[in-house]
Amino acid sequence: MREVVLARPGDFAEWRDAARGLLGGGVAPEHVSWRSVEEGASLFGDDAPPASGGTVSLPRELLVMADRVICHRDAGVPARLYRIIWRAAQDRQLLARTTDADIDWLRGTDKAIRRDIHKMHAFVRFRRLGEDAGRESFVAWFEPSHRILRLTAPFFQRRFYGMDWAIVTPDARAIWRDETLGYGPGGTKDEVPDCDIVEDQWRTYYGAIFNPARVKIDAMRSEMPKKYWKNLPEAQDIAPLLAGAAARVERMRATAVSLANPQTEKWRTRVPEELALTDDIDTLDDLARAMGGCTRCPLHCDATQAVAGEGPEAARIMLVGEQPGDREDLEGRPFVGPAGQVLNEVLEEAGLDRSRLFLTNAVKHFKFEPRGKRRLHQNPTTGEIDICRWWLDKERALVKPDLIVTLGGSALRGVTGKSMSIASMRGAVHELGGGTKLVATIHPSFLLRLPDRARADLERAAFVADLARVRELAA
Ligand code: URA
Repeated sequence: MREVVLARPGDFAEWRDAARGLLGGGVAPEHVSWRSVEEGASLFGDDAPPASGGTVSLPRELLVMADRVICHRDAGVPARLYRIIWRAAQDRQLLARTTDADIDWLRGTDKAIRRDIHKMHAFVRFRRLGEDAGRESFVAWFEPSHRILRLTAPFFQRRFYGMDWAIVTPDARAIWRDETLGYGPGGTKDEVPDCDIVEDQWRTYYGAIFNPARVKIDAMRSEMPKKYWKNLPEAQDIAPLLAGAAARVERMRATAVSLANPQTEKWRTRVPEELALTDDIDTLDDLARAMGGCTRCPLHCDATQAVAGEGPEAARIMLVGEQPGDREDLEGRPFVGPAGQVLNEVLEEAGLDRSRLFLTNAVKHFKFEPRGKRRLHQNPTTGEIDICRWWLDKERALVKPDLIVTLGGSALRGVTGKSMSIASMRGAVHELGGGTKLVATIHPSFLLRLPDRARADLERAAFVADLARVRELAA
């Protein structure tokens, strides 16, 4: 039995180096015991990891997840991760096996870490310590559920680049000083002053943005779980604000003014309310949640809901449609109506597995005209597409596809920001920058609109050929 002792629990590089050595040396997971110095193991275990016997290639997605999952506090994580990479080295399809217990655990644990990261981004509150040579310095105390400081510190570095700060957690501290990020040992809450001017500003800000008419207590508790309240200056005001909410709503109703005509151009320049809420988006779930509150253009007024993209975050191919249709609007999922059915058939013929693609739309709300009991699709304007690109760009930034396929003219506009004919772009592979490629083709609903059967068959065959080319490119 090999014993690996991890001196720095949660440190991906340390675990990776040990795992690499074991994997290269062909040491099966059942012959390794993983311990950490925290569990009282001596740094000099019985047996150091053997030297690598060869290199083993692993899916990038797995390594990206392992980098996060290793931060989980469960002491069994290093061993289970090693078992997964051992299995993945022998089974290239392992990650796609959604019913596999290891993969189910991996994805669930990864989700817990991503949620913890999101909470830390949202709930760290700095206290001002003072000023030195023109630079202000701040310190924050935070208790994340897992050892995620290494994963979150770069976010604070980008956001608070111009000041010196430290974030102290029970496990470790991150220090940003003289434009250098360093790490040190964990600490205690006593190191951080209790109250300061910034804290008062937070409370004033929170009181000002609190909208009693929009408050949803369950959603609020899930977004801001109580365990974070003790370190949030604004939390002490939540109860009194909630208590006064009903009366404030009544006052707002009594003094309500009628809305300006939503079709005017005013909305173009209005500061989008949700922008302030979306700084901390770093998962597709966060993005979908933020999108649910989108009021960037008037389309949200009549649609049932915003329809976010769907598919694996690690998808290599992204398909972009125009906008949700009637069924998509009701179900909240892209391409589940008639156009989605055509798309499914064509994807299958082209040999593309829908479950491995990321499907989304240029515009996230359904635009329609009521006609009796029916809702007739209306094309989005270029203004609507351009406004909605903000969301599409966020999806692109999170998924980072190698290849984007635009379905129809609106999607082409959404992705490129330019109005171009599909005919002028079709049949070639275009560079979008940053290594992402673009293939432009028709929208599946185009086939549904063609009255002539022979023409429809030809167009369908060309659509299948475009997607078959996509499959070859991705391979
Ligand atoms: N058409 C689209 O462009 N997208 C959908 O999600 C459905 C129909």
